Amino acid sequence: MPSSHRSEVLSATGSAPGKVILCGEHSVVYGQPAIAVPVSDLRAQAQITAAAPGSGLRLVAADLGETVTLRTAPADHPLAAIARLTLAEIGAAAPDAVLTVRSALPIAAGLGSGAAVSVALARALATFLGRELTAETVSALAYKVEKIYHGTPSGIDNTVVAWERPVYFVKGSLPEVFSIATPFHLLIADSGQYSSTRAVVAAIRSRRDVDPSRFAAPFKRMGEITRQARIAIASGELPALGVLLDENQALLADLGVSTPEIDRLVNAARAAGAWGAKLTGAGAGGNIIALVAAASLPGVREALRAAGAVHVWHTEVA
Ligand code: PMV
Repeated sequence: MPSSHRSEVLSATGSAPGKVILCGEHSVVYGQPAIAVPVSDLRAQAQITAAAPGSGLRLVAADLGETVTLRTAPADHPLAAIARLTLAEIGAAAPDAVLTVRSALPIAAGLGSGAAVSVALARALATFLGRELTAETVSALAYKVEKIYHGTPSGIDNTVVAWERPVYFVKGSLPEVFSIATPFHLLIADSGQYSSTRAVVAAIRSRRDVDPSRFAAPFKRMGEITRQARIAIASGELPALGVLLDENQALLADLGVSTPEIDRLVNAARAAGAWGAKLTGAGAGGNIIALVAAASLPGVREALRAAGAVHVWHTEVA
């Protein structure tokens, strides 16, 4: 009997966006909701090309100048881990190929770089093997790798990056993709300080273990802010959304995850006319987001640069 065979694919690509958390970071780890949106202009890209028979699967992190061979890579190597998980998911052996990943996203800066690289890689590899992964499946695979990077992540990064839609997220529940009444503009400004999500989340966890009552009220309020933000987004009340972002920033600063550099950027954005501004992601460095009317974009961008932002990116959430 002739065996069925798939058509030969010699190369394939996959990509995934970055993300920012609009509100609810940290409290999301303890069961409160958070909202994250994709940053479609900043992406991770993966390309896979067939290689000589017997050469195995080589994984190249182009930005880091690093190459590993799947056969010999350690179990906790993030690229090898997502490649192995993808192969197991589709029940295929490693192809003879070179898979290269590149990312426009800064690493360890709260923009979802790890999840985006995982999703882009999984998609390219699956496509190369003649399969397409659903957003749900690729998100679940990337979550397993997020645990390698981050210890006890909530799962928000892999979810928003895999779905590439605004997501209202509660740990352990199906993510809710929700509608936006009025598209809005965000400026994302890099403080130039890098931080480890794993370390920041672990530090909060150990402080909370010692004194749970200190964290109960701020986390609860962050959850309320997120629920109100969802309503503001759904009804297009952008100035009201800005006020909520500012309050979320104050609570995060109170938890100790802001820095003088973040405070400077947030204050500069507000002084230049942003509706609201806050850190995004784990904090202790990384990026801030500013919610800005279209007319104020140039002025706020300029103010962020003057206040020390290493990069300023613009994204429209539509
Ligand atoms: O720093 P990021 O973008 O990976 O976000 C971390 C968000 C936290 O709520 C602090 C942790 C988590 O797992 O949700």
